[in-house]
Amino acid sequence: MIVPIEVENAEDYVALTKKLESESDFLLYEAGERPVDGEKMKSMIRAFHHQPNSTILVAIHNGELVGHVMGMGGSAKRNKHVAHVVTGVLKEYHGRGIATELFTHLENWAREQEIHRLELTVMVHNFAALRLYEKVGFQIEGKKKEVLKVDGQWVDEYIMAKLLY
Ligand SMILES: CC(C)(COP(=O)(O)OP(=O)(O)OC[C@H]1O[C@@H](n2cnc3c(N)ncnc32)[C@H](O)[C@@H]1OP(=O)(O)O)[C@@H](O)C(=O)NCCC(=O)NCCS
Repeated sequence: MIVPIEVENAEDYVALTKKLESESDFLLYEAGERPVDGEKMKSMIRAFHHQPNSTILVAIHNGELVGHVMGMGGSAKRNKHVAHVVTGVLKEYHGRGIATELFTHLENWAREQEIHRLELTVMVHNFAALRLYEKVGFQIEGKKKEVLKVDGQWVDEYIMAKLLY
């Protein structure tokens, strides 16, 4: 089941993001780096609810949050039609089509909000995510060279986007 996040999901969402960050080296934050707690997350969710061009959708399996996709809309008149996208699914649930389903819901939401462009960045060696994004219609627009340092190594990222209309 894919649904927009509610304030009462805040603690579970903190647990999800912490677990994702501990399971994957492909995310921006390292495990334990971000000081997130339930109260801060509640404020963030409330803020998202007040921005029509931003959303957090969560995948729920047997009452547990197992994945999410976040779309963060621009704050200026000139970029409010753009949403930056971040996603992750717990390792145990990979390969079951959950991310694909999250992106279908994200795109439906984006079209309803008249968002014109979904964009994201992805490490060039994150093959699973690259395949997912290409499968759901994103295209590589360019490469940010040595933009991240992961375990002491420079890492490049692709900039990818999908235009919706
Ligand atoms: C990338 C990620 C979100 C995919 O989630 P998922 O629920 O497993 O994805 P799906 O089951 O919907 O698969 C979608 C497509 O992704 C590709 N894919 C998924 N896992 C893959 C793998 N291990 N290797 C290669 N391609 C893979 C496939 O093309 C697949 O489509 P197909 O099964 O029709 O061929 C998940 O691997 C993840 O959370 N990774 C860690 C966090 C992360 O990297 N987030 C993105 C940061 S930019």
